[in-house]
Amino acid sequence: MPGPSRLIALLAALLAASSARSQPAPSAPALIPMPLQLEVVGGPPFVFTSRTPLVVEPGDAEARRVAGLLVEVLRTSDEGAPPVVEAETTTPSVRLLTQSTRDDLGAEGYQLSVSAQGVTLTAAAPAGLFYGVQTLRQLMPPRVEYTAARHRPLAVPAVEVTDRPRFAWRGMMLDVARHFFGVEDVERVVDLMALYKLNRLHLHLSDDQGWRIEIPGRPALTEVGGRTEVGGGPGGFYTTSDYDRIVRYAAERFVTVVPEVDLPGHTNAALASVPELNCDGVAPEPYTGIRVGFSSVCVDREATYAFVDDVVRELAARTPGDEVHLGGDEVRELPPTDYARFVARAQAIVRRHGKRFVGWDEVAEVDLAPGATVQVWRPQLASTGQAVRRAVDAGARVVLSPSDRIYLDMKADSSMVLGLTWAGLNGVRDAYDWEPVGMVEGVPETAIRGVEAPLWTETVGTVRDVEFMAFPRLAGVAEVGWSPRAGRSWDEYRLRLAQHGPRWTALGVSFFRSPEVPWPLGGVE
Ligand code: ACM
Repeated sequence: MPGPSRLIALLAALLAASSARSQPAPSAPALIPMPLQLEVVGGPPFVFTSRTPLVVEPGDAEARRVAGLLVEVLRTSDEGAPPVVEAETTTPSVRLLTQSTRDDLGAEGYQLSVSAQGVTLTAAAPAGLFYGVQTLRQLMPPRVEYTAARHRPLAVPAVEVTDRPRFAWRGMMLDVARHFFGVEDVERVVDLMALYKLNRLHLHLSDDQGWRIEIPGRPALTEVGGRTEVGGGPGGFYTTSDYDRIVRYAAERFVTVVPEVDLPGHTNAALASVPELNCDGVAPEPYTGIRVGFSSVCVDREATYAFVDDVVRELAARTPGDEVHLGGDEVRELPPTDYARFVARAQAIVRRHGKRFVGWDEVAEVDLAPGATVQVWRPQLASTGQAVRRAVDAGARVVLSPSDRIYLDMKADSSMVLGLTWAGLNGVRDAYDWEPVGMVEGVPETAIRGVEAPLWTETVGTVRDVEFMAFPRLAGVAEVGWSPRAGRSWDEYRLRLAQHGPRWTALGVSFFRSPEVPWPLGGVE
């Protein structure tokens, strides 16, 4: 039992800690990503009650579908789901309008007007309606995320928002090869991405430790290559119908799946499954460690290109998005000329199947086909800069995934049990406080498609771990990808970010309570 003076000192320390943490609430709503224009109108809020209908135009099936997704957020156990109707109502309502003449909003922009009389959401296209709904959701108190709880009435502050994204590609990559994640886990990731207006889910479907996608006619890939993972666990793979389900679920939330099969390196699982991919024809043992750079398919065998053709044909047929990613990173087993020969043939195969080629920044060393995208993970290397500038001059475009900023598998601070440190510590500020233009000198904004945060899963075994590594940092990446450069400020952002803690609590998201962020004390409002 401590003496009285120790107790007083302890109390004083506790008080100091709590007042240091209680920052003034930001006056504007804590939206992430911050919209292009946000005006807090003042005046009484809109109050959503059990009688508030969602109104769509007659026959606007996509608006009805997007309204249906909002209904799922607004459903309560005591009052059920609000109605979606096609007729004007006299009561205050939430109206979702598609106006194809609103070119100013682009394919993903929206306008949102909230007053005590009602909510009007206007967009030129369905994706804009969906993003407007995410903003409306973030304007509601976090308790709305408890979908089975009683949470009405809900007050929404009176605002005028006009919004559209800065970049078209706002992504996250999930490595399902080092550890496997089932369909429902991936759907959970899509849900959390969509709340932050992210629109590309890059699935890293193969690596040394696992092959995770069924390829008809090549059952050994999943029978052998799918049966383990880092640490020797059971692994797994997506059947074609699983993959279709992920693609469909993502598309319904305006997220495009970018499938990656990593080639010619990071291929031990394929080599273990298909002996003729090895130059000596001998399949290696499955690999469950975390070394990189030791494997390559045999680039001199035609069997390799027949294999790539089978894989790309299947991915292209099942993927509605424009891109197929073929990796190309960390190939230490091949001389540069062999590597270049392989990449040239691989990208031709992608084009032949009607898709555009994406590769990690090593592929910039090779002459790229028109429409190719280079995913830059090592912008700090002079050699990367040189190669990427050359590729961009020849017509390639760039997605930025700087490993020393937004690799979500790096620890955010040294206290974290999960994560690695080979690219350093990627704190919450690091992931937010950077600018894509200028990151690779000489690459203009017009050549930058956007940003993507990779999550490699050597130390990440469950979807809880995925959440813990992704949040809060992924929210910062979402804002870098969406919001205008002018006005972004870490000091302001961290206060806004703090307000998302209670929402994640309500959603059951396991997030890292970083000391960089002044999380509010107490429960969910
Ligand atoms: C990578 O981190 N090897 C792209």
